Amino acid sequence: MMTKQFEEKNHHYQKRINTFLADFLTQHYSKSNRLIEAMSYSLLSGGKRIRPLLSYATSEALGLDLKQADFIAASVEMIHAYSLIHDDLPAMDDDDLRRGKATCHVKYDEATAILAGDALQAMAFEVLTLVNTDPQIVVKLIAQLCQSCGAIGMAGGQSLDLESENKQLQLAEMDNIHQLKTGALIAAAVEMVGILDPKCTEKTQQALKKYAYNFGMAFQIIDDVLDIIGDAKEIGKPIGSDIGNNKSTYPAIMGLDASKSAAIKHSKEAVSQLQHLPNDSSYLRYLAQYLVSRKT
Ligand code: IPE
Ligand code: IPE
Ligand code: MG
Ligand code: MG
Ligand code: MG
Repeated sequence: MMTKQFEEKNHHYQKRINTFLADFLTQHYSKSNRLIEAMSYSLLSGGKRIRPLLSYATSEALGLDLKQADFIAASVEMIHAYSLIHDDLPAMDDDDLRRGKATCHVKYDEATAILAGDALQAMAFEVLTLVNTDPQIVVKLIAQLCQSCGAIGMAGGQSLDLESENKQLQLAEMDNIHQLKTGALIAAAVEMVGILDPKCTEKTQQALKKYAYNFGMAFQIIDDVLDIIGDAKEIGKPIGSDIGNNKSTYPAIMGLDASKSAAIKHSKEAVSQLQHLPNDSSYLRYLAQYLVSRKT
């Protein structure tokens, strides 16, 4: 398949998840108030939707019904939206721009932004309770998301990221932060689709895990690179936020070129796992290759 066809696929699935999220809000949170407005502002503000795209691509690679993947994609994107709202708060990275718009605490206020993050997190688990499958699988999905976003996942990584400010980290410590703060949720978007599939073997689940680990690493390395060489208009967030906060990043440790090479290595490692998947994994391959050349 040509790149153009995969780009069309991206648009198609972005539209699909945007519609699903908007419909979910309308159906379950129709009583509008300041808090729900703030949640909706951040959840429906665009973004690449890379985690949902990964859930749909994994669903294709396993030959599953996309209707179930919608719920995984939505739950992970809700956690992601919450993580961004909190990440931008003055107590964390203190950024004013997200997806080309004012960050949630700038548009509303800090208290509302904190609560919007909290409520989006709750909503993510609410979505998972609605997956139409064996209740034991639902429990496994919820357990996976808990691990991926909690103290041994995203929140744990964000805490280490903050502790790493003004410090010189070893590469292994840096990798651990990337894997937790970003990799864990990306892994959830992929591995939860594997959990949904009763035919998914241990070998397949391991391949998905390794694919997602490498994807997550490359994704955050490129995020750090774009924080230096990106175009603020294009990426819709401030450039130089990491340097301003004296963050530990890949470029700070090894420079831009070596960082890009490390991202390419992880992308290739991700692609090498795809031979173990039972169905068409070409879209997962495309996403792993796209991520290292992305400009946004
Ligand atoms: C930004 O994530 C934060 C990271 C974990 C690197 P994305 O680059 O996926 O942000 P959006 O959703 O496209 O805005
Ligand atoms: C954030 O990493 C990871 C999250 C869990 C939100 P960054 O702080 O580098 O993300 P951006 O650059 O603000 O999107
Ligand atoms: Mg941050
Ligand atoms: Mg940030
Ligand atoms: Mg960043």
